[in-house]
Amino acid sequence: MSTTLITGASLLGERSADVLVVDGVIREIGSIDTGAAQGAEVLDADGLVLLPAFVDLHTHLREPGREDAETIRTGSAAAAVGGYSAVFAMANTTPVTDTPEKAVEVWRRGQEVGLVDVMPVGSVTKALAGEEISELGLMARSQARVRVFSDDGRCVHDSQLMRRALEYVTAFDGVISQHSQDPALAGPAACCHEGELSGRLGLPGWPDAAEEAIVARDVMLAKATGGRVHVAHVSTPGSLEVIRWAKAKGLPVTAEVTPHHLALTTDLLEGYDTVYKVNPPLRPSEYAEELRAALADGTIDVVATDHAPHVSHDKEHAFADAAFGMLGLETALGVVSELMVQSGRMSWADVARVMSTRPAEIARLEGHGRPIEVGEPGNLVLVDPSRSLTVDRSASLSRSRNNPWHGRTFTGAVRATLLRGRVTARDGVLA
Ligand code: DOR
Repeated sequence: MSTTLITGASLLGERSADVLVVDGVIREIGSIDTGAAQGAEVLDADGLVLLPAFVDLHTHLREPGREDAETIRTGSAAAAVGGYSAVFAMANTTPVTDTPEKAVEVWRRGQEVGLVDVMPVGSVTKALAGEEISELGLMARSQARVRVFSDDGRCVHDSQLMRRALEYVTAFDGVISQHSQDPALAGPAACCHEGELSGRLGLPGWPDAAEEAIVARDVMLAKATGGRVHVAHVSTPGSLEVIRWAKAKGLPVTAEVTPHHLALTTDLLEGYDTVYKVNPPLRPSEYAEELRAALADGTIDVVATDHAPHVSHDKEHAFADAAFGMLGLETALGVVSELMVQSGRMSWADVARVMSTRPAEIARLEGHGRPIEVGEPGNLVLVDPSRSLTVDRSASLSRSRNNPWHGRTFTGAVRATLLRGRVTARDGVLA
């Protein structure tokens, strides 16, 4: 029998209580006598906030195929120290996760590592080629119970194929997470936000309409099919307008924003530093402000990291040739705390909603993102709202170092993460 006792925590930042987790399940909440919890691991949570552990709808773990950049073990470790109990591993591995066998292998490997539940995302199309639909139903019925499907890294741009895929996933209540970017509008060389700066830097840009046209089309396909569309890494005000319209109509459309699109802006590209090269690109500061407002008002449902590890030799190129993506799992809470909570825009209960409850609901993931109540699984995170930490890329548990937050200080830090009652990480290291 394993027992963990958390003493004096502020549940969702709202009321103070002790929490006893026995064999992975919350057994008691209230004033608990330490002496009565014999043999328990005791976590002193005085001054700390207890939340349901985070669920990341958008993680790149690179295994199989690019284990030099990340593995299921190193990515799981980064997730655990970041406060996560579950991550959705994107399908753009080598080979692509497009069959039940491959999905089950990712899931099984995650269970073997045992730091977070690694839930495979199935690709929408075979080999991400955008031509033939993957084995969606078989992946859904497999042991990995795939519910989230995405060609992330690429847009499902064929409208008829997207329509068929949406019809298909309604059979098992799946969701399609779309990388909204019309390739015809963007062009293969696009690598930053299209605007005054892209012209000055001589870098081909993406127009906002490349994202917005696909978001609008997919909203209409959700309306036509009843299939659930999730807008991955939303980045423009025009997309937010469309999502607001869809929600006002009651359509099955949800959206995520990344910590980097909330905080980092296109002017960082002035120095051509490839750590800031990401897809969709960093946007102007007024866009980031609109994204923060949309997260606070519920237009955007969740924060998802788009954790995208890359080895240095894939980043150390001319800007146009470098890989897209940045790390995110270990720093997400710090960014959200600093920008959204310390600024007074959101409460800790709101953080629980956008980083845990809603992501689990969207993915139909059981056992995570649950209320802190007796009988619920002990998937929990303890946050110190007043601890300030300076990000040091060399201290990361990720295998890669493409960390855009290096040297920045955030107030609000993960102190401990619990997976089914077992402490997986404490203060930035594995337990
Ligand atoms: O920046 C990104 N990196 N955006 C994506 O859509 C894919 C990701 C990756 O796999 O590196």
